[in-house]
Amino acid sequence: MKATGRSIGVVDIFCGVGGLSYGLKSAGLKILAGFDLDPFCKYPFERNCKSIFVNEDVRKVTAEAVNCRFGGTQIRVLAGCAPCQPFSTYSQSRKSKDDRWQLLRDFLRLAIEIRPEVITMENVPRLAHNPVWNEFVAGLAEVGYEVSWDIVRCEEIGVPQTRQRLVLLASKRPGLKIENLERVKKPKTVRDAVGALDSLGAGGKSSKDILHTASRLSDKNMSRIKASKPGGTWRDWKKELRASCHVRKGGETYPSVYGRMSWDEPAPTITTQFYGFGNGRFGHPEQNRAISIREAALLQSFPKAYKFVETAEDVSFRRLGILIGNAVPPLLGKAIGKAIKAHADASF
Ligand SMILES: C[S@@+](CC[C@H](N)C(=O)[O-])C[C@H]1O[C@@H](n2cnc3c(N)ncnc32)[C@H](O)[C@@H]1O
Repeated sequence: MKATGRSIGVVDIFCGVGGLSYGLKSAGLKILAGFDLDPFCKYPFERNCKSIFVNEDVRKVTAEAVNCRFGGTQIRVLAGCAPCQPFSTYSQSRKSKDDRWQLLRDFLRLAIEIRPEVITMENVPRLAHNPVWNEFVAGLAEVGYEVSWDIVRCEEIGVPQTRQRLVLLASKRPGLKIENLERVKKPKTVRDAVGALDSLGAGGKSSKDILHTASRLSDKNMSRIKASKPGGTWRDWKKELRASCHVRKGGETYPSVYGRMSWDEPAPTITTQFYGFGNGRFGHPEQNRAISIREAALLQSFPKAYKFVETAEDVSFRRLGILIGNAVPPLLGKAIGKAIKAHADASF
């Protein structure tokens, strides 16, 4: 008979503000520590994940330093989400020599030296087309892990967003499969996620929530958003409102920038620049502004009470844009956590 209810502990490498860890915690896993280079992540990670933040460069972190965080945990889960910038279209086309390519290899190095019972990692789908991905998967298989990975559509997991992510699960025992991630029957919409929030103007701040704040709009962008329909494009605008790159021949390629979201569909992928109306389909469905920081967090499936900053002075669109836009949606983390828990209970 299998012993159920054994302790499952997670160390999160590249933990950020804790999107992945918070989700794993919601599934009943204990978050033992998170490692990240950005000291700004300490407050949100520790506050929401009830864990310890280690502010270190993963390139210099030893297997011993990570392993000691597991203590006597029976099922050790090594979780990680190496920064995805090196895998973006832009960097690939530049054939960037960015040394952050190395970070995935560092995660592999730690996994091979520590040999945790379970490993999970998340990244952008494009990574699957890069040779470093084959190297990563083969490296785990070579030391005996059963590896399962696929591109997951976050809206199928209940995240109110059409984000796609590459998710990998690996275990020392057979049976931990990506297809075991629980799916929802009906996708959640923008209205489900942010429909109840106070209305706000461009540049406005809610008196109830320091993160329900929207960036300012220039006069031109105000005219543009007023002319935008939910789910529409800049093609709905009069010619004089269009950006010069869109008016030029051949400039018709990105219809979804300067768009409004639709109330009754999931949001588009929340990027690190969600707070700018011109940066994607980030216009509010009916208010004349881009989405607020809190709305972006809710569309990423962070709970409303998630604390990202300690004081109002710490609120920065740019900084929180990076941390929220790069986070693993907590609901995806929760689905991963539930699959790991069921596997651990059945197989170890
Ligand atoms: C994709 S984000 C992680 C998101 C996080 N898992 C979450 O769900 O919120 C990648 C993180 O890697 C961190 N990072 C980048 N280079 C690093 C390095 N050399 N060592 C440690 N962390 C690093 C960044 O600060 C960023 O928080």
